[in-house]
Amino acid sequence: MSHEKVETNIGLMVILIVLIISVGGLVEIVPLFFLKSTTEPVAGLKPYTALQLEGRDIYIREGCYVCHSQMIRPFRAETERYGHYSVAGEFVYDHPFQWGSKRTGPDLHRVGGRYSDDWHRVHLMNPRDVVPESNMPGFPWLAENRVDEKLTARKMKALSLVGVPYTEADMAGAADAVKGKTEMDALINYLQVLGTSIKTRR
Ligand code: HEC
Repeated sequence: MSHEKVETNIGLMVILIVLIISVGGLVEIVPLFFLKSTTEPVAGLKPYTALQLEGRDIYIREGCYVCHSQMIRPFRAETERYGHYSVAGEFVYDHPFQWGSKRTGPDLHRVGGRYSDDWHRVHLMNPRDVVPESNMPGFPWLAENRVDEKLTARKMKALSLVGVPYTEADMAGAADAVKGKTEMDALINYLQVLGTSIKTRR
């Protein structure tokens, strides 16, 4: 087939472009579904507890991901600042994952254990009380809102359908575990476990 034929026939060109791009894409993407390192949890990875799971939903609801990524790239500048780079096996229980793509604030993947619960409490109420130059908004309503315990077990059930290993006992105890907690408690509980399955943080 001559080159001229392709370049003067847009229909043919579209078909050929789609063909080439799909082959390129498939070769890159399909193997990932079968690689152990991308589909199996890293050693020691635990599903979120009931309270952490509720905290994660608040993180999503409040749009924290709009300013914070949760993926440390394997570059020196990143690992010096944040700790061990993120690996795929850390996210297998995350549906949906919170990798994000915008960093108005720092990456949060290894923020777990970096600050005390009290620091987070003050910071989330009004970030400027602990970081004067911060432009992160405050989230003071989280300290007043209570977690709605009615849906927690059903969220766990849904996640177990996509492979998160929650047990019947986890689900049975879910409502009691979150009842009466504030949304602030839940969110901080979630932040404190982020990235802690790999124990090489600086
Ligand atoms: C408008 C952008 C923006 C939004 C939305 C936002 N943040 Fe931030 N965040 C920042 C910036 C900027 C900083 C750095 C200054 C500071 O520490 O306050 C920061 C810092 C942080 C830190 C400290 C990280 C570190 O390693 O020092 C935590 C934890 C945090 N944010 C959590 C959250 C949570 C949880 C939410 C959602 C409830 C949220 N942020 C929403 C911009 C944002």
